[in-house]
Amino acid sequence: MSVPQAIRAEAERLRSELRHHNHRYYVLDDPEVSDADYDRLFRRLSQLEAEYPQLQDPLSPTQKVGAPPLSEFAQIRHRVPMLSLANVVNREEMQEFQDRLQRFLDTDEPIVYVAEPKIDGVAVELVYENGRFVTGSTRGDGTTGEDISHNIKTIRSVPLRLLDQGVSIPSRLEVRGEVFLPNAAFRRLNAERLEAGESPFANPRNATAGSLKQLDSAVTAKRPLDLFCHGLGHFEGGGLASHQEFVQALQSWGLKPVPHGRLCRDLSEVFAVCDTLEAQRDALPFEIDGVVVRVDDFRLQHRLGAISRSPRWAVAYKFAARQATTRVVSIVPQVGRTGTLTPVAELLPVGIGGVTVKSASLHNMDEIRRKDIRIGDTVVVERAGDVIPYVVKALPDKRTGEETLFVMPDRCPVCGAEVEREEGEAAYRCTGLACRAKLKESLKFFAGRGGMDIEGLGDKIVEQLVETGLVTDPGDLYGLSQEQLAGLERLADKSAYNLLAAIEKSKTTSLPRFIASLGIRHVGEATARQLAEHFGDLGPLMDADPADFEEIRDIGPEVARSLAHFFAQDQNQRVIDKLLSAGVDFPTVAARREGRLSGQTFVLTGSLASMTRSQAQQRIEALGGKSTSGVSKKTSYVVAGAEPGAKRDKAERLGVAILSEEEFLRLVGSEDET
Ligand code: IVH
Repeated sequence: MSVPQAIRAEAERLRSELRHHNHRYYVLDDPEVSDADYDRLFRRLSQLEAEYPQLQDPLSPTQKVGAPPLSEFAQIRHRVPMLSLANVVNREEMQEFQDRLQRFLDTDEPIVYVAEPKIDGVAVELVYENGRFVTGSTRGDGTTGEDISHNIKTIRSVPLRLLDQGVSIPSRLEVRGEVFLPNAAFRRLNAERLEAGESPFANPRNATAGSLKQLDSAVTAKRPLDLFCHGLGHFEGGGLASHQEFVQALQSWGLKPVPHGRLCRDLSEVFAVCDTLEAQRDALPFEIDGVVVRVDDFRLQHRLGAISRSPRWAVAYKFAARQATTRVVSIVPQVGRTGTLTPVAELLPVGIGGVTVKSASLHNMDEIRRKDIRIGDTVVVERAGDVIPYVVKALPDKRTGEETLFVMPDRCPVCGAEVEREEGEAAYRCTGLACRAKLKESLKFFAGRGGMDIEGLGDKIVEQLVETGLVTDPGDLYGLSQEQLAGLERLADKSAYNLLAAIEKSKTTSLPRFIASLGIRHVGEATARQLAEHFGDLGPLMDADPADFEEIRDIGPEVARSLAHFFAQDQNQRVIDKLLSAGVDFPTVAARREGRLSGQTFVLTGSLASMTRSQAQQRIEALGGKSTSGVSKKTSYVVAGAEPGAKRDKAERLGVAILSEEEFLRLVGSEDET
């Protein structure tokens, strides 16, 4: 069957639109269309390609979701060897680096550098020929790496065709970069692995390496890997004079350069970048382990050349390691929201990267056994990916014979109910319906940022509310009085008043938040949003059966079972009724709507007098707008409430419009409109 011309043209148009939207979303972080619109285009293209196999193209945007599994990796030779970097660990060594450069170049002239984060990921090389993606490979031994093209293609920010928007497309481009898994995705992946009884990854780098080594790219496609480019290999066609120009070329081709790079005119500017990045290390959404400092001018780079395995023109300023050795003083089971008993290692306090670490999760009994961690052991602890510290391994050579094995108790350490381990599950759970530990964790979750967002309901207060018996389920929060709260320890009248006001404010919420606050197993914020959009209201959601849930994309049998199980329990239905009768209220959800604020992005800073931050976000979203956390040139408005933070200053610097609360209210209008 030949392909009609109109169909061919439609497929080409869809591909070009999808490429454009991928670039907006994954590279520029600034989408132009809603997810639903994107899905529609994607589905139409997949349908055409399925109907007309002749249309299939390995570089089609539909091919980013995974190719058939390989049986082994082929080898790829790097035309230009992939080198590594010499390290410097302090300013003196950086000064020596500069002295060496000046000696070699026989000059006293200042050298211009580019300093940028050293991404703690996995090095890869991408090859493009005439703008078309050809291969992606690992560094390997520097000369020969493994062909991981099938996995690289799944990375959303890697274009399969370079964009032609200014800098001419080279006939052959070999570009090097670092693949990484953002910290948030790393945390999610580990949580899923634990849930599935698999061993978690020690850090995002290991998770990335594991993902790139998959023979089945469908597995890789599920992991939101990302890639920053940092260097050139072989390059034909086009003259780039400096690293700065290279960075601009990358952007023009639709590739992502390493962010936060700075041009430095002398070493003091280099040191300033190192200090700033080291201070920001914990706040960045990905792991960095140092700063790469390189000579900007390509001619100078060329003159400097390389010695053995590393170039003379660059060094890595390494940050302190995030690992340390310490002792396990004891192992204590902690009861979580769903009753899971998580063994936690209490450690001899040890400093890791500026933070004192006193405890680390051991996840579950299987992990303890797999790693053979004993009470009294000397262990290696790592703090990475912005997660709770992780015990990497025990050091058996350091054992004295005094170490003891940890045994999971058969009774809950908090309520004394029996502890059970379900068939096929790694977790032990407390079966106590009224377990106070479970209740405390549920309340914290209920009141947390992703849930009802009750400001001021901290751990200490939850602790007392449960211990005094004032609160036996989340519904009780809405019946608390000023006198009851004022009777709690260390809660001044004013704070009690503020807390009551926050509880009252939280009653006006949204359906997705309400669903998320219930703490249903496997149901996080994203799933809650999907459920709200699918069912529109709470009633139909509570009445649904597992098959109804599975109609929703991304909801599998396990989540469906968990939802049905939750709503089938009288106890949970009673709590929901109690919350609704107390006045908790949310509008029904219509399918994602277009509105007056479509295409506009808002950043909220400071506090608003007339509504909570989440209410403001809901207003924006109800009118089709988007609320984001970071200010950039693309932000349409920054809404500055009382005591605005640095975001207001940034808006001013970038010339972004700043709205007062009053102006914001005028813009979003009255509730009726939604
Ligand atoms: S430039 C000759 N820039 O660190 C290599 N490398 O230890 C020049 N890396 O193999 C590399 N972030 O994989 C450069 N911003 C960055 C980097 C970076 C991470 C990796 C790279 C290299 C290794 C060197």
